[in-house]
Amino acid sequence: MGTVININGRFFDRNTAKISVFDRGFLFGDSIFEVVRTYNKYRIFGLDLHLDRLYQSAKYISLNLKSRKFIEGIIRKTIVRGDNPESYVRLIITRGIGREIGMNPKYATIPNYIVIVKEFTPPPESIENRCIEAAIASVKRNYKESLNPLIKSGNYLNNVLAHIDAMKKGGVEAVMINPEGYVAEGTTFNVFIVKRGVYYTPPLSAGILDGITRKAIIRILKENRIRYEERNIKPSELLSADEVFFTSTLREIQPVIRINGKKIGNGRAGEYTRGLLELFKNNVGKFLS
Ligand SMILES: Cc1ncc(COP(=O)(O)O)c(C=O)c1O
Repeated sequence: MGTVININGRFFDRNTAKISVFDRGFLFGDSIFEVVRTYNKYRIFGLDLHLDRLYQSAKYISLNLKSRKFIEGIIRKTIVRGDNPESYVRLIITRGIGREIGMNPKYATIPNYIVIVKEFTPPPESIENRCIEAAIASVKRNYKESLNPLIKSGNYLNNVLAHIDAMKKGGVEAVMINPEGYVAEGTTFNVFIVKRGVYYTPPLSAGILDGITRKAIIRILKENRIRYEERNIKPSELLSADEVFFTSTLREIQPVIRINGKKIGNGRAGEYTRGLLELFKNNVGKFLS
């Protein structure tokens, strides 16, 4: 049990897993990745959706990937090898080692496929124990026209800088605003608000990652005919929302009780967030494979 790393088909432990300093993922963040987690030991949340997004990221960066069967195979084999009660799984594909240090992607011809599996502690059952405080970062989400946030690339410096800024402002997590001044997303999560009984989340056009949990939640809301809308959200609306919550594969649904030191709603997990978490738990089985 524990941490196990698969590099191009070979298994390593955390001390022996090594990648060249000439790998373009290390030099330039020239890589893509996905993070998935298991439920009931081996069942993966949204694997097909995660792989769809992986291929979309690869297309954006002009990287040809091996087959889905191969990629699913290395993920599943590494989970079995790790033998954890639940697994965190990080799949990283870099463009590989370049024969020169330079921008030209053609310097590298053989991508590296890396899977890191480690034990995953699921978020607490009780919603009260999931609550978190956040701050709006001054560091803006980067322009779609620069590094499109739809690409889940290995270059997360924009997000790291936002996180540093939010911590300085007293937040535990950072919410990022897009260049147009609207709420985009968090450093590793999507953002939802509730106002007068309606769920709102920024549209993909706000320059965000197409989160798999966000997608699953939208599907669940639609199936249950619950009112929701994808629309641009102003920072002032975030601060005056009745409820705010974050979503991601690892967090599922996480209530936000304070932003920039200001209480959201009554400063506790709200009833709409609570209701949605119940609905998510009841429906998560549909997304497992
Ligand atoms: C920038 C960003 N936004 C949103 C998310 C949430 O996506 P998902 O629900 O697919 O985990 C992530 C996940 O890591 C992320 O890095």
